[in-house]
This record gives sequence, structure tokens and C-alpha cells, in this order.
Amino acid sequence: MKEKKIIIAIDGYSSTGKSTVAKQLAKALEYIYVDTGAMYRAVSLFAMQNGLINESHFDKEALEEKLPEINIKFVLNSETGIAETFLNDKNVERDIRSLTVSRYVSKVAAFSSVRKKLVEQQKQMGINRGIVMDGRDIGTIVFPDAELKVFMTATAKDRAERRYLELKEKGEDVSYEDVLKNVVNRDHIDSTRKDSPLRQAEDAIKIDNSNLTLQEQFDQLLELATDTIKKL
Ligand code: DC
Repeated sequence: MKEKKIIIAIDGYSSTGKSTVAKQLAKALEYIYVDTGAMYRAVSLFAMQNGLINESHFDKEALEEKLPEINIKFVLNSETGIAETFLNDKNVERDIRSLTVSRYVSKVAAFSSVRKKLVEQQKQMGINRGIVMDGRDIGTIVFPDAELKVFMTATAKDRAERRYLELKEKGEDVSYEDVLKNVVNRDHIDSTRKDSPLRQAEDAIKIDNSNLTLQEQFDQLLELATDTIKKL
């Protein structure tokens, strides 16, 4: 009999390295991988490019009106084997990771009309199961029936350090203090917003990866996934 495919929901705080390990897990299981943070980032980039959001202003009405114009897709880069984010047919994979986008994304992600559109799209992506999806509300809202739910945490300091090194490597001129401030601020907005706040699903397994290598995290996740599949 063919092995049953499951839904794996990976949620957690910003910069916990969820995406890196989720991507590896999807590859090992030959599942689809979806980074939902990239979708919220793409909408934020769209809002920035259209002058709808800045330090002091967020024109929610205008963004709501323009939502039907926003088309987000993931396209596999055949050279790297990694899916890249496209906003209205333009590759924005690099642009959406900037600290500027990170500054606005929590505000955009707290807007219910944006969440409604993206959650709908995410549910569709999992219709045939066989998917690893990471974000903030995957185990609670998008796939409350996911067979495996994981909640990743690490100290804010550890997460900021990782993010800082990542941005530096990409050539961004940022300071560690600014990155830490952004991480802490996003945690606060993400977990206190009214619509789908970040929280651990009751049936999620918590993994604190402050002291775990990437390999150790991957091994733990793969074991959890294969055990879950076996039990079906
Ligand atoms: O995972 P990330 O840091 O790329 O996510 C960017 C932002 O998007 C994060 O601050 C919160 C928001 N987000 C969300 O609200 N719900 C999701 N499912 C994924 C991300």
C-alpha cells in the first residue's frame, strides 16, 4: 500500500530557523514546502512599493481594495532546487527578506483582510496533504487537523544573532541592536494581535532549538514525522 501523506505544521517565533529545517524535512519526505511568512512579506513589499505603508502611516483601505491585484506564487529554481517567491510574476525572494520589509510585515500580517486572503490560499495548497508549512498560525488556524504540529522556540538573543549573521552575509548594512529590536517587536505584535495571534496549538510538540544544531533539529523532526506516518 502507498504510504499515507500527512500535513506537517511548523509554527514559532520569528527567526527560529523554522524555514531552514522545514525545507530540509520537506525535501527528505518529498513533500511540498510552503513558507507562509514569505507570503506576508510579499504583501508587505507590495504595500511599500505602492506607497500604502511607511513609518507613520498604513492605508488599510487602499490595500484591501488592491488585494485582488496581488498574485503570489512559489517557483522552483531548477539550479538550487529551492522554491522562490514571486510577486505578480517578479522574483522578490531577495527583496522580501530585507530588514525594511521585516519592519512592516507584522503590521500587514495583523490586518484581517490580508490574513483571510492568504489563509484561503494556504488551505488550498494543502488539499492533497503531503505538505510542510511553516508560519505562526498553521497548527491553529490553517490546518487545525494537521497530523503533526511542531512549535519552535529559542531565546530572542539567539534568534537575533542568527538573523544578524544571515543579513550581514547577504550584504545588508544592519546593526545587531536593530535586528534584536525587530525580533522582539515582531514577537510582541505577532502574539498580541487580535486575529490569529501566534500561540502554540494544544497538540503541538515544542522544540527549543537554542542549543541544537541544524542537524539535530532535522533528526528530531524527521523522527517525529516518520513515527506519525507509521501510526496512521
Ligand atoms: O516567518 P517570517 O519571519 O518570515 O514571517 C514574517 C512575518 O509574517 C511575521 O512577523 C509574522 C507574519 N506571519 C504571520 O502572521 N502568519 C504566518 N502564518 C506567517 C508569518
